[in-house]
Amino acid sequence: MRPVTLTVNGVRHELELAPRELLVHVLRERLGLTGTNVGCDTSSCGACTVLLDGESVKSCTVLGVQADGAAITTIEGLARGGELHPVQQAFHDHHALQCGYCTPGMVMAAVSLIESGEARDEESIRNGLEGNLCRCTGYHNIVEAVAAAAGKA
Ligand code: FES
Ligand code: FES
Repeated sequence: MRPVTLTVNGVRHELELAPRELLVHVLRERLGLTGTNVGCDTSSCGACTVLLDGESVKSCTVLGVQADGAAITTIEGLARGGELHPVQQAFHDHHALQCGYCTPGMVMAAVSLIESGEARDEESIRNGLEGNLCRCTGYHNIVEAVAAAAGKA
């Protein structure tokens, strides 16, 4: 076991982690942040996407010990004072979810895309979200929501 410090949604956690524990399991099972989903466990679907020091990462591809000292934001960390984050609100307004399983990861990827200035138009949004799969194939409304949140709609 190794001592690891993670700041998750602004809260500092000191944990003892086995070297093989994946970040997604640390978030879900150690910290109870079950908004981050596991879809494939093979880095294909993006359901587990979180922000690691501001960059979107698939948390099933990161070991918990690799995130030592990092600041992590999960879907639970986006809303402020009872107000949805603008990307969450845009997903709501544009009906950008069906079963919702992919939604947390999709929202986190969208936040990163917008914050990096890469959500420029429909094509760049589609390219930027390529690593996040929606099994309901509801991509059209997702792209509209991201464009709206990016001020491009
Ligand atoms: S669970 Fe991480 S990419 Fe699918
Ligand atoms: S809304 Fe169901 S997987 Fe995307």
